[in-house]
Amino acid sequence: MEIANSKAPGELLNWDDIKKMNANSTQKNSEFFFEPHKFDPSRFEGSGPVPYTYVPFGGGPRMCPGKEYARLEILVFMHNLVKRFKWEKVIPGEKIVFDPMPNLEKGLPICLFPHKA
Ligand code: HEM
Repeated sequence: MEIANSKAPGELLNWDDIKKMNANSTQKNSEFFFEPHKFDPSRFEGSGPVPYTYVPFGGGPRMCPGKEYARLEILVFMHNLVKRFKWEKVIPGEKIVFDPMPNLEKGLPICLFPHKA
């Protein structure tokens, strides 16, 4: 409604308006997330954020049915990655692009260094 109210009668949507509709960064709202740009996984501990302030899997009756499977797969992948390798980014400061979901511009190439057995 904020976007609609900012338009003159008959004025069409433009690309800037569309970009404002990307609902993929609700966790950056400082009203609900203290220092939202700080990497702080512990903010999700305990009772976590207020419901519907962070919605990576949507919410309500059409919420993602793959949620628990996706979480399981990511956690097992991270466990094995961290256990076996150290890594370095090939492109430090690689940009994030929105198309419309956020992605690393070049797909986050990394160099893997196996831990010594
Ligand atoms: C990190 C991984 C994933 C993310 C971030 C994600 C995110 C989402 C989001 C935001 C929605 C829309 C929910 C809504 O409208 O409220 C959705 C829907 C859906 N997702 Fe996922 N998803 C993931 C993985 C998966 C997996 C692994 C599956 C299947 C094995 C899956 C199957 C679906 C289906 C079928 C819907 C449509 C549900 C409906 O419209 O009733 N997703 N997902």
